[in-house]
Amino acid sequence: MNPLNHVAIIMDGNGRWGLKHKNSRNAGHKAGLITVEKVIKETIRNKIGFLTLYAFSTENWKRPKKEINFLFSLLESFLNNRLDELHKQNIKLKIIGNKNFSKKLNQLLNTAEKKTLKNKKLQINLALNYGSKFELLNAFKNLQKNKAKINEKNLRKYLQTADVPDPDLLIRTGNTKRLSNFLLWQLAYSEIFFEKKLWPEFNVKDYNKIIKKYKIIKRNFGKI
Ligand code: FPP
Repeated sequence: MNPLNHVAIIMDGNGRWGLKHKNSRNAGHKAGLITVEKVIKETIRNKIGFLTLYAFSTENWKRPKKEINFLFSLLESFLNNRLDELHKQNIKLKIIGNKNFSKKLNQLLNTAEKKTLKNKKLQINLALNYGSKFELLNAFKNLQKNKAKINEKNLRKYLQTADVPDPDLLIRTGNTKRLSNFLLWQLAYSEIFFEKKLWPEFNVKDYNKIIKKYKIIKRNFGKI
């Protein structure tokens, strides 16, 4: 059975679900947050140490302002309402991505990271304003600036996931097969599952089915 330390998820399909069921993309994001909570619980139940969630990409700024504002207000209320509970559950929250939001949101994110820094049960990496190409370019710039030798070990030190093992498993919901500038370096040897269901429809049973399949894959890492 393969060990499972890190699950990464591209939570796709909120907009389509919202339009279909409530005639509103934002309603889909709201429903998507409920799935987030269920998946966090199930990740803990499965004793998985790391969960990385793609919540907002560097490309998502191209969306209508109304939708962007809604997404960030959803994030704000999630943190305001749930931070104490996450902390009580021994969950560490880490933001990956470029934190150049409003002063208020940046403060909230920093507070959440600081408060949960020493927690050990589950680390949630929330990818916000995240883009893998930006992360890699930044890492190379840092290597150059510090006159460090360009090799895997040194590059890794400058990734935003420096202290995090690479994902064992990537799940993308929403019936689309692409990586969308997510963890391009870190996913080099991950097992990838594309799920037809839209993110708000994705449930604990679906999640466990994927975990079960993942556990029995023969992972070669280039060997035979
Ligand atoms: C992609 O679906 C989803 C997003 C860009 C946002 C993800 C946000 C959530 C799951 C809820 C908020 C989460 C937190 C942690 C506050 P899409 O909108 O691209 O869907 P589409 O492909 O159907 O348009």
